[in-house]
Amino acid sequence: MRFALVSALALPVLASAHGRAGVRHHVVRDGTVTSSASSTASAPASASASASAASSAVSSAAASSAASSAASSGSAVVSGSASVAATGPAMGTITFTLASTNPTAVPYSSITFNAPTQTTHAQTTTYSAGSVPSNIPNAPGIPNWAALNPKDYPTLDKTPPLDSDEVKQWIQEVANSGVPIPDFGPTNLGGCANNTAAAANASRCWWTCGGCERDYDVTTCPTKNNWGLTYDDGPSQYTTDLLAYLDQQDIRGTFYVVGSRAISRPALLQAEYIQGHQIAVHTWSHPYMTTKSNEEIIAELGWTKKIIKDALGVTPLYWRPPYGDIDDRVRAIGMAMNLYPVMWTRISSTQTFDTLDYDLAGGQATPVEVLDSWDAIMNNASQIDTGFIVLEHDLFQQTVDIAVGYILPEALARQPKYNITPVITCQEMPMSNAYFETNDNSTNTLPAGEYR
Ligand SMILES: *[C@@H]1O[C@H](CO)[C@@H](O)[C@H](O)[C@H]1NC(C)=O
Ligand SMILES: *[C@@H]1O[C@H](CO)[C@@H](O)[C@H](O)[C@H]1NC(C)=O
Ligand SMILES: *[C@@H]1O[C@H](CO)[C@@H](O)[C@H](O)[C@H]1NC(C)=O
Ligand SMILES: *[C@@H]1O[C@H](CO)[C@@H](O)[C@H](O)[C@H]1NC(C)=O
Ligand SMILES: [Zn+2]
Repeated sequence: MRFALVSALALPVLASAHGRAGVRHHVVRDGTVTSSASSTASAPASASASASAASSAVSSAAASSAASSAASSGSAVVSGSASVAATGPAMGTITFTLASTNPTAVPYSSITFNAPTQTTHAQTTTYSAGSVPSNIPNAPGIPNWAALNPKDYPTLDKTPPLDSDEVKQWIQEVANSGVPIPDFGPTNLGGCANNTAAAANASRCWWTCGGCERDYDVTTCPTKNNWGLTYDDGPSQYTTDLLAYLDQQDIRGTFYVVGSRAISRPALLQAEYIQGHQIAVHTWSHPYMTTKSNEEIIAELGWTKKIIKDALGVTPLYWRPPYGDIDDRVRAIGMAMNLYPVMWTRISSTQTFDTLDYDLAGGQATPVEVLDSWDAIMNNASQIDTGFIVLEHDLFQQTVDIAVGYILPEALARQPKYNITPVITCQEMPMSNAYFETNDNSTNTLPAGEYR
């Protein structure tokens, strides 16, 4: 089951849609593999201290041999692999100097779609019923995750049926919300090219085709050098490694969780929440939401809100549309269901703050392209007056390897320092405002109220 879902999400057609308009550099595809990272000696104390966490996080022969060669040569972990060069996309050399890497990182040239499967690490800490995250003092205690039964939820990775009592009730609640839902219909699959009229129609405000945003969309962090750290599509079997690294570095982010993954790993979802991360909605089955009917959109969002509430005791007030696929109809239904949309920062059609990490797993991007796109994001971030929100994923081994081995250590070593936080924190709100039950209603209007 788990395998089936991963390959469904890894389909090239989806991955390339994910890749759409990212920041890409020209890459020298000469197959040269040289060490271009700076010495790990320049890493800050916090990065070196991460070695033990990361060595538990990433264990493979490649990682340990890379770590020992890095230790003996003093150069960082940027070794080539003939087998990857022979079977994978042509490997170049990154065009910038990494400020730091994790000493136990998998060599980046090995973080490809055909990388060998690594050992995963079981969750070591589970939380007992009644636990409360220390950053939300007024939260109810978490329920007993072991009492959750997948049989009480829809089939994984399919849009839930519309005839259940739950979905009927949510449809009624949307109708009663007072939020006007635009009456234009769903788009066709196939994006802008297969929807020329809708794509050209500014009154739809379809983000996918032109980047249209509404005022209440969360698209940046307002303050310069503030970075809203986000991971989509989990929790997965690799999320434990990411959580261990984030905890070691004392940084927290926002997880946009897929409902089908949440019912599959409720104890891991609880660990994200209790350890101080923000939890938000990313739909039940990860569809292109503008292609869905109103009722299907309600079912996708409603079941994901429900599994999160059942696992955590609180209901998110924020969601992110898969592939960023949102228009005014989808926005309105989300707002009627008390969900504000969160995107990632977009400067122009060719400059979005998408790491392209997802494309690693599908083979649409090489690790060199992903790291170069990362450098472009950091350069773009230095040029804008606001902070920013970056898109990353915790679904695949490759996306977690590139985050824990390269992107996060490099980001932590960059000057000036970034203030890396969950998105709600960079909006200058307490974590309690991330959830319906704990929101301060006197200062923060609920989405449905905001929209009317
Ligand atoms: C374009 O839309 C039509 C109508 O929905 C659909 O049958 C077709 O498969 C779509 N093409 C692509 C490439 O998705
Ligand atoms: C654009 O979409 C709106 C609905 O938002 C619709 O009323 C209008 O007719 C559309 N315009 C065109 C040219 O299709
Ligand atoms: C963003 O990065 C791209 C790629 O490096 C660059 O071409 C572009 O000028 C940058 N834009 C800004 C606003 O910094
Ligand atoms: C905010 O309002 C909602 C809905 O009325 C309520 O459930 C919630 O408890 C309120 N928040 C607080 C902190 O009382
Ligand atoms: Zn996603």
